[in-house]
Amino acid sequence: MVSNLTQQPILEARDLTMHFHTGGAISRKVVKAVQGANVKLYPGRVTALVGESGSGKSTIIRMLARLFKPTGGHIYFKGQDVLEHRGRAAMLNYRSRVQMIFQDPFSSLNPVHKVRYHLERPLKIHGRAGNRAALNDQIDVLLKRVSLTPTEEFANKFPHQLSGGQRQRVAIARALAVQPEVILADEPVSMLDVSIRMGVLNLMAVLRDEQNIAFLYVTHDIASARYFADDTLVMYAGYIVEGAGSEELIQEPKHPYTQLLLSAVPDPARGLRTAEMEVVGEIPSLTSLGAGCPFANRCPKVMDQCRQTMPPVTELSPTRWVRCYLYD
Ligand SMILES: Nc1ncnc2c1ncn2[C@@H]1O[C@H](COP(=O)(O)OP(=O)(O)O)[C@@H](O)[C@H]1O
Ligand SMILES: [Mg+2]
Repeated sequence: MVSNLTQQPILEARDLTMHFHTGGAISRKVVKAVQGANVKLYPGRVTALVGESGSGKSTIIRMLARLFKPTGGHIYFKGQDVLEHRGRAAMLNYRSRVQMIFQDPFSSLNPVHKVRYHLERPLKIHGRAGNRAALNDQIDVLLKRVSLTPTEEFANKFPHQLSGGQRQRVAIARALAVQPEVILADEPVSMLDVSIRMGVLNLMAVLRDEQNIAFLYVTHDIASARYFADDTLVMYAGYIVEGAGSEELIQEPKHPYTQLLLSAVPDPARGLRTAEMEVVGEIPSLTSLGAGCPFANRCPKVMDQCRQTMPPVTELSPTRWVRCYLYD
């Protein structure tokens, strides 16, 4: 697997930053949602982005999907700076390469349209439709790929006739319709029943292996990251504080926040468990972050310099890095 890492990343974020300006003229606030984030995605590899609620995960994914314009940093697709190209054609082209799957399968499908419509639409928009027979064939293939069979039956169902897991499979089929090279999945199973989460994660693993898709898998469940992701990035209060191969991260977490997080997980060795991250405590307000490490106030190993400036990235090996003065 490490061999993929020697390739050029297919999608890369460098120093990505998002400061939301909110409030009126009187109560002006800046929400520092994401600061200096580096992310590299590779074909045939799943990268998990784990963090508590409010840590900035969705904001990163939305910037990568180009739904939000970053306030700083760069996004490279196959080495090309994509933020320089904002025209309609460039956006359409980007969307055909980089697709997104949302958390809520109940609101991501239009209730007045059948499954067939949801799959036809991207095919038509991206000029991959062909004639009626070709279109039907493509819908058949897509539904088979996400195991919604008999396909003819599922194509004619409305969203309300489907379970949550089936809806998320339709959302995945819709993303696949344009033959993307990257899929950005924002907590794709967190709203599904625990019993069907594994099936949806396994489907994504098959797509990674058989179609060489690069996945960014956002989750607040670190145990599912270990199960499903090759690499894991840990996010805290707008910063990605650590990145490593998932297994080495779980076996030997370096950042004190990751260590705290894993000590709260019952027993990661026993496989997939729901390890909700809220137990670790509240993250600081993103409107009043100082210049230091956001974890400093809760860190058992805090040093003076941690309160002064955010530690830079320290590379510990070709596969792992950390932002912490303990390793500087
Ligand atoms: N459009 C927005 N305007 C202002 N603040 C936002 C916006 N979107 C997200 N935020 C804020 O950015 C922070 C990170 O949010 P988000 O990326 O959704 O976190 P996560 O997905 O990890 O739960 C939160 O404080 C959230 O309130
Ligand atoms: Mg989110």
